[in-house]
Amino acid sequence: MEELAFHQPVLLREAVEHLAVRPGGVCVDATVGEGGHTSSVLQASAPLGVVLGVDRDPRSLLRAQERLKEFGDRFIGIQGNYADAVQMVRSRGFNKVDGFLLDLGFSSRQVDAEGYGFSFQRDEPLDMRYDPMGQSMTAADIVNSHSEEELARLFFDYGEEPRARAAARAIVLGRPINTTGELAALVAQVIHLGRGRRVNPATRVFQALRIAVNDELTNVGSGLAAAIELLNEGGRLAVISYHSLEDRLVKNTLVDEATGCICPLELPVCVCEHQPTLRIINRRIIRPAVEEVAANPRSRSARMRVAERI
Ligand SMILES: C[S@@+](CC[C@H](N)C(=O)[O-])C[C@H]1O[C@@H](n2cnc3c(N)ncnc32)[C@H](O)[C@@H]1O
Repeated sequence: MEELAFHQPVLLREAVEHLAVRPGGVCVDATVGEGGHTSSVLQASAPLGVVLGVDRDPRSLLRAQERLKEFGDRFIGIQGNYADAVQMVRSRGFNKVDGFLLDLGFSSRQVDAEGYGFSFQRDEPLDMRYDPMGQSMTAADIVNSHSEEELARLFFDYGEEPRARAAARAIVLGRPINTTGELAALVAQVIHLGRGRRVNPATRVFQALRIAVNDELTNVGSGLAAAIELLNEGGRLAVISYHSLEDRLVKNTLVDEATGCICPLELPVCVCEHQPTLRIINRRIIRPAVEEVAANPRSRSARMRVAERI
């Protein structure tokens, strides 16, 4: 198998700074990936700080464990879905934590390495599962079994693809589809990008399928709830997202959690008795500096939001 460089962590300095990591602190890196952010958090929390690093993808977690060996038992690697973070963290003996990081989506390695089926850059089985042992439904199962209507909705809702109907129709007519290359070729028949656009016509369709296969938006909601439950008063939550669907969900959740009453406006009196759980730290979204985007173009769509547990 080819040897690829480690995923380059995005907004690294900003994330560690905003997590306000202190020596001896306990943090959850809910998307440890290849351990880029975790390595810096462990350095900032030396000599006694601990990071519980979660990843759904066992292949990434193995690489993180190998890379973070020098930190000994200050790094605790956990394979699983961050939606279950409360149970994972508590079963390791930690009731509360001081920081919680979510760096959403996939890593460059997952795009570039063989076997994931996330990318139209190589022709391989249309899989897209982070955890092939723990998840049964693949992207091929979806494209080959959903109705045209269901596919169109999926591409529209999860890909914000304006030509969702045409893509769904081309797929239904071109079935069975088994590889990333076959899917990209079918989509390219009906989605044409304007001249000068560098993105592949199948980008949004692939994004939608990845979100559906891994139930990503539901997991983000559960992951944010887990963070709120686990954080100590004054503990920080940092979330880095890469597309507008994720970012909107994160923004709305943080705004709701930072608000007292969340009753509908038409109700004359409050019936929800909602208490704020978070204080938003950055009113303005944090984006990578031009230097970072130049050095790592994949960081260009990143947006970070930070809140503090109250
Ligand atoms: C952008 S990468 C994180 C990169 C990491 N910050 C680093 O510096 O290497 C996102 C990671 O989240 C993982 N992931 C996606 N959904 C997950 C979930 N529901 N639970 C746990 N990990 C998940 C992916 O497998 C991937 O490794």
